[in-house]
Amino acid sequence: MGCVTASPAEYALADLAVRLGAAQVAGWSRAEQDLAAAAAAAMEAGSGATWSGQSRWDGRASWDSWDARAGRNYGAGGDGVARSQVGGGGVAALWAGIRAGGDGVAELRGRSRAGGGGVAGLWAGIRAGGDGVTALRARIQAGEDPLGQAFCHIRPPEQRRGAGQTFTPPAVVDSMISWAGRALTPARVVDPGAGSARFLAAAGRRWPEAELIGLETDPLVALIGRATLAAAGFAGRAAIEVADYRSARLPAAPGRTLFLGNPPYVRHHQLAAQWKAWFRDTAARLGVPASGLAGLHAHFFLATALHAAPGDAGALVTAAEWLDVNYGGLIRALLLGPLGGESIHLIDPAAAVFPDAAATSAITCFRPGSTPRAIRLRQVARVTGLGGLAGGTPVPVTVLRSVPRWRPLAVRPSGPRRRPEGLVELGELCRVHRGQVTGANRVWITTGEDCELPARFLLPAVTRASELFHAGDTLASTATLRRVIGLPADICALPAGEQAQVTAFLDRARAAGATESYVAQHRSPWWRVRLAEPAPILASYMARRPPAFVRNLAAARHVNIAHGLYPRDPLPPPALDGLAAYLRRSVTVGQGRLYAGGLAKFEPGDMERLLVPAPSQLECQHPA
Ligand SMILES: C[S@@+](CC[C@H](N)C(=O)[O-])C[C@H]1O[C@@H](n2cnc3c(N)ncnc32)[C@H](O)[C@@H]1O
Repeated sequence: MGCVTASPAEYALADLAVRLGAAQVAGWSRAEQDLAAAAAAAMEAGSGATWSGQSRWDGRASWDSWDARAGRNYGAGGDGVARSQVGGGGVAALWAGIRAGGDGVAELRGRSRAGGGGVAGLWAGIRAGGDGVTALRARIQAGEDPLGQAFCHIRPPEQRRGAGQTFTPPAVVDSMISWAGRALTPARVVDPGAGSARFLAAAGRRWPEAELIGLETDPLVALIGRATLAAAGFAGRAAIEVADYRSARLPAAPGRTLFLGNPPYVRHHQLAAQWKAWFRDTAARLGVPASGLAGLHAHFFLATALHAAPGDAGALVTAAEWLDVNYGGLIRALLLGPLGGESIHLIDPAAAVFPDAAATSAITCFRPGSTPRAIRLRQVARVTGLGGLAGGTPVPVTVLRSVPRWRPLAVRPSGPRRRPEGLVELGELCRVHRGQVTGANRVWITTGEDCELPARFLLPAVTRASELFHAGDTLASTATLRRVIGLPADICALPAGEQAQVTAFLDRARAAGATESYVAQHRSPWWRVRLAEPAPILASYMARRPPAFVRNLAAARHVNIAHGLYPRDPLPPPALDGLAAYLRRSVTVGQGRLYAGGLAKFEPGDMERLLVPAPSQLECQHPA
């Protein structure tokens, strides 16, 4: 057995999953077996050390029975597990996670109290396989997910987020199942990243004959997923494979397959080169555009297009950013092609569907092999508005093919939006410009103390978004700002002293690699950063908060961490004050492009589409 390491609470959870019958579900992998064995050893060690007064549990007998199906046997030696690691802390954390699940554990709690042993008493109950496990099984059979809840409690959100482990709330699962029930009667349901098996368990209840297949890369998660399916009574027709969905081989199905799930959201930076190459090559084979910036959820759509056959159906819930961004072109092309998009339902971020990810969510329904003439699009404010995913306005595929962003069509699918009386688009008043890219901030941005250049070439500039957040309503001084080096094109025209200083600086810049950046190689001359003139209003555009709109009374320049708002026709200072004040008050993160984790981004075009009062009304907007 290999060395398996997990936290004490994770071992406790793994052990509990085993008691709930995890090994009865096909696909019992070596990684899970190792984890289960390590967990059993750890619990056994912990029981002596921590639950004083309890008799040591001998798990062997039950292990023999649940291991029989997998045809494996191994001892409870648990090499690699530090006994001292495991104890009441792990069990207590697990218990806290299960307790967080709500009332269903009342029975367990009562038992624990009656026994007078607190958590230890409770755990003894669970270990003894009596009412504790029975109660958990009853909760699972009632459609709850106590193991998934415990897992989310035990493993911190930061760690789960990195692995794309955000489990789907029951109301969303129900809506997707309800849509699928109208689309087909599946012979097989596949969840591409099965997690704690929320989708598969619900599908098992909805379609009593369907095979239930889950792919999952995390052995602990696979273990609780299979425990859930076993406890729900589906072991005879379920399988969990510890495998990557992209390379999984799904055998031919006896009928139609339903793909249901919540693909992990993992950004492209974290994806291995090998998978990026797989993505590029597979997309080329299917004739759809691939971008190296695509995240794992885009890979899952592509893999689904590979695995699916005509007549199948699918519904996947993801972050909605792919509707608008360049890399999402692949998903959009798949829906307009082999995946056969049927409808897309956006959920307003204010609905906070996924507690760990404040992003707009999108449920995408598709019928592989169909040739849709339109895809239904809509946005709902609340999860209850999803219903059975029947609503939405059909948007012709000709329109969908012709526009680069789909989200505006979902928000207002029937053409140009009606503007409230008295409001205009910001772009009618101002051009919004992202600040200049320097090409090498370490060279071109300075505190000014050590660069030995004439002061007139050191331009005070906003170079960090935090400078705008800290400024509040008004940037009144440049004293705390750094300087961007703004050199003229013609150095020979400078007075001799300045020329010597600039030449010496350029030598140092060259030695520091400043000529090698893409930006430097595509501007002429390579040293000319060309900052734009100071904008009267500066705005941040990417943060987990609404943009800061700051009146730039200090006439600071800005680099590409900020946008500058430049009036098309002159606006008097009180109108600029009013405009900035209105934007500060009215703009929300939901108006930007929301990325998982709650990051909101406003491209210049997005900002220009914000609605603001007409010029005549601006001066009354100022709070003062
Ligand atoms: C967003 S969660 C969804 C879990 C479950 N389907 C649900 O909706 O509650 C995605 C799951 O996919 C798993 N996962 C991540 N990368 C994977 C991959 N390449 N192949 C299969 N599963 C993966 C994660 O461990 C995680 O449990």
